[in-house]
Amino acid sequence: MKIIELDEIGSTNEYCKANDNGEDLCVFAKRQTMGKGTKGRSFISFDGGLYVSVMKHYENFSAENAFRIMVNACVAVCKTLEHFGISPIIRWANDVLVDGKKICGTLIENTFSNGKIVRSIVGIGINVNNRISSEIKQIATSMKEVLDKNLNLQDVKKEFLEKINRTFSIEDYKRYVNWFGQLVTIKTEEEERVVKAVDIAENGRLLVDLGGNMLEISAAEVSLRL
Ligand code: BTN
Repeated sequence: MKIIELDEIGSTNEYCKANDNGEDLCVFAKRQTMGKGTKGRSFISFDGGLYVSVMKHYENFSAENAFRIMVNACVAVCKTLEHFGISPIIRWANDVLVDGKKICGTLIENTFSNGKIVRSIVGIGINVNNRISSEIKQIATSMKEVLDKNLNLQDVKKEFLEKINRTFSIEDYKRYVNWFGQLVTIKTEEEERVVKAVDIAENGRLLVDLGGNMLEISAAEVSLRL
């Protein structure tokens, strides 16, 4: 995989799309001016964070297995954090939290053809030494804040690269879930419901218990509040 290191870019995900010649790429940027989050939100990307997109091409990757891409990304991030002495948890589907605050977000953009994923762009933003803007101080943290020291960003990148090239399982993902059996809030555009989180299926759907009725919900429809 070719590694590209940029100083400044709008979004590393967009850079991958614009520079796709069929080769797999891993693009780091020191900062992003138009970082993208999930659900059309923006992702503030000040200097000092780890902003990366990993673009891979596949010949025979069934769309049914899409969640495996998320699993791999989230577990790679968790293992990277653990290497530096941080204990993360995963908030299904794509956030990594420490001490109840978000330390990393993932934006996966897949391209489909005939029921297959032909290209995936996994965009990951880890708060390392970067400043956290005041609007999100209550809900976001950084490795620097957790460890109370600046980290060497190159060391974090190196560790991340080693982990992102490994293959992890859904069981590995579930090891970072500490909220099964607990009441959680699932939020759609229209409503919020408190349910008991039970499990995560292989296809990535969250299994919940709503007053004795088991429901399977998809991350595209709801977000989770712990
Ligand atoms: C989220 O939490 O909403 C997802 C955030 C994803 C941010 C990363 S940073 C690298 C890549 N480039 C982007 O524009 N977004 C992702």
